[in-house]
Amino acid sequence: MSEATIIDGKALAARVQERVRAAVEELRERHGLVPGLAVVLVGDDPASRVYVRNKGRRTVEAGMKSFEYHLPADTTEEALLERIARLNAASEVHGILVQLPLPEQINPQRVIDAIDPDKDVDGFHVINAGRLAVGRPALVPCTPLGCVLLARQARADLEGLEAVIIGRSNIVGKPLAQLLLRENCTVTIAHSRTRDLPRVAHRADVLVAAVGRPRLVRGDWIKPGATVIDVGINRVETGDGKARLVGDVAFDEAKAVAGAITPVPGGVGPMTIAMLLTNAVKAACMQRGIALPRALEDL
Ligand code: GUN
Repeated sequence: MSEATIIDGKALAARVQERVRAAVEELRERHGLVPGLAVVLVGDDPASRVYVRNKGRRTVEAGMKSFEYHLPADTTEEALLERIARLNAASEVHGILVQLPLPEQINPQRVIDAIDPDKDVDGFHVINAGRLAVGRPALVPCTPLGCVLLARQARADLEGLEAVIIGRSNIVGKPLAQLLLRENCTVTIAHSRTRDLPRVAHRADVLVAAVGRPRLVRGDWIKPGATVIDVGINRVETGDGKARLVGDVAFDEAKAVAGAITPVPGGVGPMTIAMLLTNAVKAACMQRGIALPRALEDL
């Protein structure tokens, strides 16, 4: 059998970003609406600073307004909740993202609960989880949205396929299960207590690994021809004192068996900011009662 097609997340993210830019232009011209995204960073975690800077840059590139708030590491929960209340009330802010993780004096659940669900571009609020579960219009977490678009690159129609998701987190596994159900897949969520994980994985036409365990999924777990989406981003030592990023899938083994596979890096990672921008535009349209521009209709 031939090697798997590599699904290029970077290229797909660039196409989504271009569609967002076109949609934002249309909203400005037709409705005088410029979507605004606020990102709040508490503390100085270097990885978080890089993410936040990239989010701000891409927001501006898409033609939207970016509002960045950098609060000190010793910020109290009360002060952060006050900041969120002001952003909830600000009419030019349509999306709010509080970068996680937060310093330990702040309870992340209370922070997420405080964000107006209609501005919750992370889709982490319990109201959005509920809306997604019952099939109502919702803001949906970005990583699962990206996973579905990547899977659709390999198979335009996912209807009737067996989907197995390894990982049951609230931000990836569970919302992704809802999205794949909406695509009419037969969905299994496997996790650390699943019996005979390799056998369960082997059923999958679409296999998603989202557990944060480097190279957990081996080549012989994969059904020949399956579409494999690797959400893992794990830093591993290479022996010469350096580190590199690997996914939750043993890529070299998997690509000899799978039909299509996302690489790490360059697969799911680049899609998340693109989907965040999409969510910001959706949030702005929902708040103003405007139909989503055509360019974003099937995202
Ligand atoms: N930290 C790492 N990824 C994310 C994300 O998607 N959203 C938020 N809010 N924080 C993060």
